Amino acid sequence: MRVAILTGGGDCPGLNAVIRGIVKARNEEEMIGIRRGWRGAVEDTYVELGNDDVEGIHLIGGTILGTSRVNPFSIDEGAEKIEKNLKKHQIDALIAIGGDDTLSVAAKFSSRGLKIVGVPKTIDNDVSNTDYTFGFHTAVNVGADAIDRLQSTAKSHERVMFVELMGRNAGWITLEAGLAAGAHLILIPEFPRTIDEIIKIIDKRMKLKGYAVIAIAEGFKPTDLGSVVGDKENIDAFGHIKLGGIAHYLSEVIEQKTGYETRSVVLGHLLRGGTPTAFDRILGTRYGVKAMKLVQQGDFGRMVALRGNDIISIPLEYGVSTKKLVPYEYYKLAEMFFG
Ligand code: F6P
Repeated sequence: MRVAILTGGGDCPGLNAVIRGIVKARNEEEMIGIRRGWRGAVEDTYVELGNDDVEGIHLIGGTILGTSRVNPFSIDEGAEKIEKNLKKHQIDALIAIGGDDTLSVAAKFSSRGLKIVGVPKTIDNDVSNTDYTFGFHTAVNVGADAIDRLQSTAKSHERVMFVELMGRNAGWITLEAGLAAGAHLILIPEFPRTIDEIIKIIDKRMKLKGYAVIAIAEGFKPTDLGSVVGDKENIDAFGHIKLGGIAHYLSEVIEQKTGYETRSVVLGHLLRGGTPTAFDRILGTRYGVKAMKLVQQGDFGRMVALRGNDIISIPLEYGVSTKKLVPYEYYKLAEMFFG
């Protein structure tokens, strides 16, 4: 049997651990890597993958296969070209590793009859029906470390410091990094606030302690602003705008309205660069091994998932039908530590 692997969407720590897990779990199967995600599947950039290619790669960030944000269903004949290329390379099954965009494409191919297994990847942790996606843990650690460091400089200068973290429309990274590092206010898309409410919390904190560190998600939208901050002209193949700039925007507004000296820092792609944490290496490895087992059992149209401490499989559509967002009770808990 010939099995192909592709990694799609934003890169993410732990991708290489999944690839290594898949290759190590094979029996007689021949492994093929598709370079640059769905784009490579259309453009026919297939490479053989052997044990030597995956030696020690779980220690390294990014993806050895490369990635792209290409949606074959919005390219002329994109899906047909992929099906033709898979046939040409005699691929019997495909393992697609990606977030909800990549997996939604996988689900469409599955309904067209392709033998597909999905692996949920994203630092945003917003894929439904899995407790965690790999990459999230690393992003939270990097974010928490950055917020820790900003505490001392904010305190020394008696400043308000906004730290912007990725996550698209989900606040998971910001909430957990902020909670771990003791941010004095956490602002996430799921729970908008007005600028006056934000000022009230900052003012109280500044009067009491003289400095404040605020973790803010890139997708946070102040209730009175009406839209997210980002490059609205820059829309990707899946319809997402390029987010970024809310920390800078709010730091200017808050400084102007309160007179407190304010700075902003954007963590951006730092959150997903570099080596994965041990947790993500292990989760990626377990996902990879399970994905290969599903292929060997002929269990297609499925996605691997973490439930408690078990790796299970669920129908692909369960992962992509809705986004997993931060529940109110969790945000409420974080709120206990604001101010
Ligand atoms: O989905 C992962 C993610 O890192 C988001 O948190 C972020 O909004 C987006 O990707 C950034 O995408 P790009 O790498 O294309 O700039």
